Amino acid sequence: MELLKFITCGSVDDGKSTLIGHMLFDAKLIFTDQEKALELESKVGSREGAIDYSLLLDGLMAEREQGITIDVAYRFFSTDKRSFIVADCPGHEQYTRNMAVGASFADLAVILVDATQGILSQTKRHARICALMGIKHMLLAVNKMDLIHFDKNRFEDIKNEFLSFAAIFELDSLQVIPVSATEGDNVTSLSENTRWYEGLPLLPLLESIDVSREEQNSRFIMPVQRVSRPNHQFRGFQGQIESGAVRVGDELVSLPSRERAKVKSLYVGNWEVEDAANGQPVTVQLDREVDVSRGCVLSSDEGVQLADLFEAKLLWMDDHELVEGRSYLIKCGTKVLPATIFEIKHRIDVHSGKQLSVDRLMKNEIGVCTIALSENMVFEKFENSRTLGSFILMDRVSNMTSACGTISHSMRRSTNVFWEQTAVTRQVRAKQKAQQPGTVWLTGLSGSGKSTIANALEGKLLQAGRHTMILDGDNVRHGLNRNLGFTEVDRIENIRRVAEVAKLMNDAGLIVIVALISPYEEDREQARSIIGQGFMEVHVSTPLEVCEGRDTKGLYQKARNGEIPNFTGISSPYEEPVNPDLRVDTSQIELSEAISQIEVTLSDLSETSRQ
Ligand code: ADX
Repeated sequence: MELLKFITCGSVDDGKSTLIGHMLFDAKLIFTDQEKALELESKVGSREGAIDYSLLLDGLMAEREQGITIDVAYRFFSTDKRSFIVADCPGHEQYTRNMAVGASFADLAVILVDATQGILSQTKRHARICALMGIKHMLLAVNKMDLIHFDKNRFEDIKNEFLSFAAIFELDSLQVIPVSATEGDNVTSLSENTRWYEGLPLLPLLESIDVSREEQNSRFIMPVQRVSRPNHQFRGFQGQIESGAVRVGDELVSLPSRERAKVKSLYVGNWEVEDAANGQPVTVQLDREVDVSRGCVLSSDEGVQLADLFEAKLLWMDDHELVEGRSYLIKCGTKVLPATIFEIKHRIDVHSGKQLSVDRLMKNEIGVCTIALSENMVFEKFENSRTLGSFILMDRVSNMTSACGTISHSMRRSTNVFWEQTAVTRQVRAKQKAQQPGTVWLTGLSGSGKSTIANALEGKLLQAGRHTMILDGDNVRHGLNRNLGFTEVDRIENIRRVAEVAKLMNDAGLIVIVALISPYEEDREQARSIIGQGFMEVHVSTPLEVCEGRDTKGLYQKARNGEIPNFTGISSPYEEPVNPDLRVDTSQIELSEAISQIEVTLSDLSETSRQ
């Protein structure tokens, strides 16, 4: 029987840790000295000398200190019949993320409910998160049966309520067990107190339940983690088999290139083998040269999907809310690519299951979004493959995980739009103008001096025979961006459009000077990646007090009076660049000095890009 990965969900007092602890204890899955230690420790524990089984789940010092479970803890144990990994997740709403992370790895969820309280909205939330993350097997443990005197009717009520609620999840299996985590009823053996219960106790159920999915028997899929080249003769593709099996002689297709080749040899560890199957880490040698690198997928057929636009369910985990237009890095299988949130379609209320129309997602919320990628990615629908159907989004600046998600289906986009390769290239145009194109991106508060710098800089460059163009926020907002205001979403789009235009102008051979507040680090990073070569970020770091004191346009005064909403620096944030190419503070240095500093940095940067 293969390894069972399961998650336990319950609220603070439901008795999760006690249940698992008791199971390990009864099944003699702990060592004797640990048993002694447990008895000793229990003397100071919360059950007045009786064994406190929750103490067994050590690892979690903080839990013991605070009396609550605070993080996901993974534990491994095994019986004669099966091995297990259990993720113990805290149930409180603020820890939705931990639960979702635990659930994304698990095949089965043990959901605890307190028999004295019945199904709570918490219980439904836990079940919903597990279902959203793809769990197809659930086990509802109705705990504290001793406290309701093993009342069969009460148990049946709770069971029926949960069965009718969970019907929407289309689970492969759902069992409901009456237990007492502290007393041990139906934990490892059937209890005398519940003779009316016809099912198995918890542990035998966990030992026998079949969670294998069809995917495991079907198509061979291996995302390539590494290309190994120990010598000139050997080129092997290494990764873990996510589904199906492979044999020497099989024909495989490499995606996205769709090239075909036959398996010449297979290795598991250092051993040469004839075949390998689901779950094994393997090295595949092919019989001919094909275009395969990290992030590609080897498959037995072409059925795996390729797309650059898809709909997905997202669990948002970042403190900073998610709005449309933001760009992240997506990691799916072994592939990492830039990805933009195209549209937030709706939020799913985890309490009611309802779809709510929203324009943003806050931390711990789950929503359905459309995600656009910078190029085609190999994936599967989540229902077909957990590995190629799930992903994480990473913040481009901090590299922290901002969201995890599951792919519902692909959407057609650019299949009819091709990139026209022009005969005259960027290099040719630049050469004609005898200059290195680039973009000087001036970011800073309103009134910091961006436009003044932009004008003076352009004047100097022009004198030196350069070909230039200024893209100034105020001006661009009169034409190209006249439909945009100052909400976060609009600013993201403002910055994206200006970055795209700057890139086109760079392609035309021009040196572009952008003067935009561009208050968010993430958007400046996105601009950097759109523009690419020749991008230079200058933070015009004049302090707020000085900008407000200048108030050339009278806007700060209006903002202070509440007449302008979302005014940067007053009622909307400005995130200072962490690592700009240059910082100039116009309250500290003369304009001419600022200009020469920019010129020096510009020529340094074009020197390095030439090398
Ligand atoms: S950005 O944030 O999207 O980069 P952008 O540089 O285009 O802003 O526009 C900023 C200019 O718009 C300011 O210099 C100011 O003149 C004007 N403005 C009007 N309303 C606002 C506001 N709420 N916040 C900031 N600037 C505003």
